[in-house]
Formats: sequence, structure tokens, C-alpha cells
Amino acid sequence: MDRIRLDKYLCDLGIAPRSECRRIIRSGRVRVGGETVAAPETKIDPRASDVTLDGERLVWAEHHYYMMNKPAGVLTATEDLRQKTVLDLLPEELRRMGLFPVGRLDRDTRGLLLLTDDGEFAHRVISPKFAVEKMYDASVEGTPDETDAAAFAEGLVLRDGTKCRPARLELLGEGRCLVTVTEGKYHQVKRMLAARGKPVTALKRLSIGALRLPEELPEGAVTALGEEDLCRVFMVR
Ligand code: URA
Repeated sequence: MDRIRLDKYLCDLGIAPRSECRRIIRSGRVRVGGETVAAPETKIDPRASDVTLDGERLVWAEHHYYMMNKPAGVLTATEDLRQKTVLDLLPEELRRMGLFPVGRLDRDTRGLLLLTDDGEFAHRVISPKFAVEKMYDASVEGTPDETDAAAFAEGLVLRDGTKCRPARLELLGEGRCLVTVTEGKYHQVKRMLAARGKPVTALKRLSIGALRLPEELPEGAVTALGEEDLCRVFMVR
């Protein structure tokens, strides 16, 4: 891996903005390989170097991965002039990391949203080629039944003629069902259920692959994902 400046190293870890990282380094709080390094421009190998801040060892990560419990009423975007975005909900130190949402949830959809700075990972989650399952809890008008489930399994044709891949519809009784899709067409779940005469009144994403939204994660909050969580994304529920 290329060597990078010490101030960038700290900034990439989300320690502080770049200018503040320079101040921290100049104040002698950072050691590399046991030696105090007070020059922010010092280049280090981020993987190999042993860096401490105030005596605490820092662990380098090339990329960052988080999950958010997205509330209704915020845009899945990195910025918007008028409306609040999911990035606006992040704590200050995460806003500097260059995170972006993996795929899109509609403004009124809640639930599991991944955020990362790893474009390759995002592509694998979104691309229909990798068929990662996304499961939604849908509240609908009417009561989905076995004929709806069969039509989903067959591969629905939407009102505009768009053909969907086979999907799973699990019945949860009056006015509710679980829908699992492996692609992400525009308003896909809403359009699929509308095509069956069951318009969606509320939608929440519960899982991506075998990674489930933890019940205890409050709306608007994020949690960092570890390696096991990332593997789960590509596993079948
Ligand atoms: N399908 C939809 O219709 N909306 C979403 O937000 C996600 C999937």
C-alpha cells in the first residue's frame, strides 16, 4: 500500500478534521513505532506502522462499513439543498469519511441501510448479478394471499410491462407481508404489490442477505459493521 501523510492517516480514521489532526500531531500526542512524530507531513505505511494517539494504539482500516436504521422522512443521498439526508444524521466524526449509502431506500421507507466508502462492496450488494436478498416488511391495503405469493415466485410483470425476477412473498395475515427481492428497481416493492392490487402503506427493510437490522438499533442511529457482518451480507438468510 502507498505511504500516506500522518495527518491524512488520522483524518481517515475519523479522529478529527485534517487541520485539527495537524494540531494534534504537532502537540506531540502521536507516536509512530514508539517515537513521537510531530511533523504532520511525515509519510507512513498505514498497514505496517504502529501508531498511537495519547498512548492508545490506532487500528487502520482501508474501508469503513456502517448500518443505519433509516427513519422515514430523510433522503437516501449524500447531500441535498433542501431536504435532510441520511448523511446529515451521522455523528460529526463519521461525516468526514466519504461514506455513501449502498443503494436507495425511498424517503418514506425505514430500516436497514448500509453506508460505506468501498465502491466495490457497494456494487456487489446492489448489482442483480450477485443476487443479494433484500427483505422488506410491507404494510398494505388488502390482504396478500397465496395467489400473490405464486405470482411473485413466478416473476411479476409490473403495470408498465417491466419484468421482475422471481421474488418471495411471505404472508403475515391481514394487511401485512414480507417481500424478498434480489434486485433494486425503482420503487420495486411498492410497484410489485401495487401490481397485485395491494398498495403499500408502510415499508421497512429488515435484512440484506443474512444481515438483519438489530431490533435495539434506534431509528437514525448507526453501528459499525465487523468482518462477520460483512460476510453475512453475502449469505442467504
Ligand atoms: N422498494 C420500494 O418500493 N421502496 C424502497 O424504498 C425499497 C424497495
